[in-house]
Amino acid sequence: MATEQKRDEQSMKPAPRVTVPAVMGAKGRRKLTMLTAYDYCTARWVDRAGVDMILVGDSLAMVMLGHEDTLSVTMEEMLHHTRAVARGTQRALVIGDMPFLSYQVSVAQAVENAGRFLKEGRAQAVKLEGGASVLQQVRAIVEAGIPVQGHLGLTPQSIAKLGGFKVQGKDQEAVNKLVEDALALSEAGCFSLVLEAIPASVAQRITEAVPIPTIGIGAGRACDGQVLVIHDLVGLFDRFVPRFVKQYDALGQRIMEAVIRYREEVEKGVFPGPEHTFGAIPS
Ligand code: KIV
Repeated sequence: MATEQKRDEQSMKPAPRVTVPAVMGAKGRRKLTMLTAYDYCTARWVDRAGVDMILVGDSLAMVMLGHEDTLSVTMEEMLHHTRAVARGTQRALVIGDMPFLSYQVSVAQAVENAGRFLKEGRAQAVKLEGGASVLQQVRAIVEAGIPVQGHLGLTPQSIAKLGGFKVQGKDQEAVNKLVEDALALSEAGCFSLVLEAIPASVAQRITEAVPIPTIGIGAGRACDGQVLVIHDLVGLFDRFVPRFVKQYDALGQRIMEAVIRYREEVEKGVFPGPEHTFGAIPS
């Protein structure tokens, strides 16, 4: 945990917000941390744990709403969750993930929707997926004063094209395209770049080539930072567990055990006990 953060905890003053320049300045100095969160309570715990960035990922389509993939989540749903996360966050930089078809159709639509994440969602930045095909959008959004995080490699909004959740950058042509896209996104003004499910050596090449921080998920240790989906990290999402996930807890199991204890105590008449029960009003 950073020294400044400890000092702020001791003085009980709210810690200053992590800024986009601070994230950019971390490259080559210290590793960055990013996690997803989708609701107020989780955002509060993640924020207190001292991560640099909280992503309100469109993965919420799968882990919060139970969709098959990320394609169905809407702008309104993303904004609803972003507002909740923003209310629960004091220190981390909050990034809203632009959902499928909220930026691909036109540059004007991309700027307008990106702006909604800041204006209505109270995020400090947005993330969008893609390389050469979204450069105009990135330039226009940045020009409007909205920080943009790029996302290359396995881009789940393109699973129809990619043929599923598969590791990317596996041949020389694909590697060259990833490096070109990374450089182009950086030149277009992205402040950082998520690299998802690509070989570690490719992520290292990109990390060395671009001046902005790379944030890896299934992209090895050489990245400037790491991101995971919170439901994966704490063991809540069990439909599938990608190889790149480390489960630091088995919260799903622990929730179920707590609920079983509750159910059994209610069924046996043990809960509520006297300590949970209000006495009669004295007459
Ligand atoms: O939506 C998401 O959670 C993401 C992360 C996996 C980077 O895009």
